[in-house]
Amino acid sequence: MRPDVTASAGRRVVVLLSGTGTLLQALLDAGPDGTAGPDGTAGPPPRWSVVGVVCDRPDAAGLARARAAGVATATVAPADFPDRPAWDDGVARAVEVFAPDLVVLAGFMRILGEPFLRRFGGRTVNTHPALLPAFPGAHGVRDALAYGVKVSGCTVILVDAGVDTGAVLAQRCVPVEDGDDEASLHERIKVVERELLVEVVDRMTTRGWTLDGRQVRWGATADGGDRR
Ligand code: GRF
Repeated sequence: MRPDVTASAGRRVVVLLSGTGTLLQALLDAGPDGTAGPDGTAGPPPRWSVVGVVCDRPDAAGLARARAAGVATATVAPADFPDRPAWDDGVARAVEVFAPDLVVLAGFMRILGEPFLRRFGGRTVNTHPALLPAFPGAHGVRDALAYGVKVSGCTVILVDAGVDTGAVLAQRCVPVEDGDDEASLHERIKVVERELLVEVVDRMTTRGWTLDGRQVRWGATADGGDRR
């Protein structure tokens, strides 16, 4: 079992993003702050909180959201690294600084390589705006619309070495409406995706999980270990 670096402050969540960061915002808004109970007394300690944000684009709006919330940020732009292996290692190092219990890819639009998975595999989750295994990749919403599906949705997975191939943690459906275009469907999916991601982070950090083949089951590991 990994050492619990800050038991009193709850589980440490690090978020990776590339874009506007509304998923990050949902996590920032939902992270229990534990500062005050209803009568002004100290509340219970937080179960988890976002302790760091790592971004591959210096101009990403999500970085401003992190800063506004007082969360430390790091930027790992590929242009600042000599090659792909160096970038992979740089991302892993940037995340490692925050000593995460859980890593969340929230609109992070790059594939993470072996140096990252070696350190954080098994405790990194990604959210995807389609019902996997259908429509993986960078254009899941567009591809689902082009196929003509009547229902799409979002999927939260444990990240593995493939593209959107990891074990499924949770899914939720969103109906496709007549006249939907990529932007309108994606916006409706993101409303549901934000809720689902917060629920999954809550569940992973409070109940833990067991991976049996591809099946994710909620609760402590079969060997009595604790994956929270
Ligand atoms: C989400 O739909 C995510 O699944 C996809 O990009 C979107 C990110 O949204 N990869 P935001 O940047 O958090 O608003």
